[in-house]
Amino acid sequence: MVDMIERRRSKIAGWGVYAARSITKNTRIVSYDGERITHKESRDRESRYLDTGQIWCFTLNNRWVIDAHVGGSVARYINHSCSPNCYSWIKDGVIWIRAARNIAVGEELSYDYNTTGNTEIPCQCRPECKNSL
Ligand SMILES: C[S@@+](CC[C@H](N)C(=O)[O-])C[C@H]1O[C@@H](n2cnc3c(N)ncnc32)[C@H](O)[C@@H]1O
Ligand SMILES: [Zn+2]
Repeated sequence: MVDMIERRRSKIAGWGVYAARSITKNTRIVSYDGERITHKESRDRESRYLDTGQIWCFTLNNRWVIDAHVGGSVARYINHSCSPNCYSWIKDGVIWIRAARNIAVGEELSYDYNTTGNTEIPCQCRPECKNSL
């Protein structure tokens, strides 16, 4: 069985994750793994990561954040898009990346980081995008 996804150089930024076979809508593709840390710890780490233009911390709930820079899965290479083909879904303390629609082999996976534009990183999801991550 071919793996569902693979990491490759991205058209959006740096590394990205691509469909290695067709993926059906709502499939749980991969979990966003990493170290579970408090929001306070996340604020400290995130500002250090942002100094190098990187975002790794994903809010799990009002208590915990997942830092994929430490012990992360391949999910950490999935880029943001303003018109994504995936979405995040939290179940039993696990952040899942799921297919928002049927995805064809070779498509780059993306989801909305929902960072509400509070970083200075210009979004490159498409050439004419004017948003920030
Ligand atoms: C979780 S990482 C994704 C993997 C990253 N492309 C890499 O090579 O490590 C998030 C970082 O990827 C970049 N990135 C993701 N989506 C982007 C987008 N739509 N536009 C510009 N940069 C993006 C930003 O540098 C962001 O901080
Ligand atoms: Zn965009």
